[in-house]
Amino acid sequence: MKTPAELLLKWYAQNGRDLPWRIKGGAHPNPYVVFVSEMMLQQTTVKTVIPYFARFMARFPTVEALANATEDEVFQYWQGLGYYTRARSLLQTARIVAEKYGGKFPQNPQEISALKGFGPYSAASFAALAYNLPTTVIDGNVQRIICRLYRLTEPLEKIQPLIRAKAEALTDKQNAADYASAIMDLGAMVCTPKKPQCLLCPWQNMCLSANAADVEQIPQKNKLTKKEINGKVYILSNAEGKVYIRKRLEKGLLHGLYEFPWTEQGDLIADATDSGLSVTHIFTHIKMILEIITAQVNDYQGDGIFVSPEELDNYPMSTLMQKVRHKIFKK
Ligand code: ADE
Repeated sequence: MKTPAELLLKWYAQNGRDLPWRIKGGAHPNPYVVFVSEMMLQQTTVKTVIPYFARFMARFPTVEALANATEDEVFQYWQGLGYYTRARSLLQTARIVAEKYGGKFPQNPQEISALKGFGPYSAASFAALAYNLPTTVIDGNVQRIICRLYRLTEPLEKIQPLIRAKAEALTDKQNAADYASAIMDLGAMVCTPKKPQCLLCPWQNMCLSANAADVEQIPQKNKLTKKEINGKVYILSNAEGKVYIRKRLEKGLLHGLYEFPWTEQGDLIADATDSGLSVTHIFTHIKMILEIITAQVNDYQGDGIFVSPEELDNYPMSTLMQKVRHKIFKK
């Protein structure tokens, strides 16, 4: 009889995804590749990450190349991935690795966990994928698989220790790298949130929810209602056709990125025209809807700058602000 891990690894060898940051059959030989991909994959899907990863690695092929970059340039390569704190942490960690560790990523779990930008999930994932260290990786995919496998139907937040215990017991500690990739793939390809493909699953014979009518309802999640912000964003153009942008100075998610001025409530200036256009963007806990207001101004009091629309490429912006830019300037 094969163990569950053996069944999963066999399935992975035949069906696992070929991803640009992955080499099947053990740890990846280049920890920097694992590091960049794990940072990108923290809040972004594999499909979105693939082209960003390729561009990023072409420009910053080594940890030293990244360590020598400016924050603005790293932001440019990150533009559109969102959650920009990750880009800043990525750069800080690259500099620490280049300077403090002589260009070699640390290998012990404590030092890995201390790397900026890594939470418990990424640290475990990095340790497994880069060094085959015997860690258990638990993300949303793994939680879903474990809950279905053992029919854990209590709300997710109540059963975290149980999920961890079950996930650890299943892990193949000798083949932690492949096992981590395999279980991620199982969650992404077979044990999907909607319409799981139970007939293709290597664990179908032991799964307590396989082919069950209620499988999509497991795990039970509490649905957060998102706060809605209805604000206004301003395209302020001067007589030369230049447009006003400012750099975000306050600490937080989008710190250091450029933006068109905007308000959550009220008006920024009088005599403005509602363009009739608006943008919607979903952040983790917030749904943001901004009406786009255009206005001609002579000057604008603030610490921003006027730039021509063609120059906007040189100023990294959040995905939300790029949507605004695209609506107005069509690029
Ligand atoms: N999500 C987080 N890390 C991942 C990886 N290495 N491969 C696929 N999906 C992931």
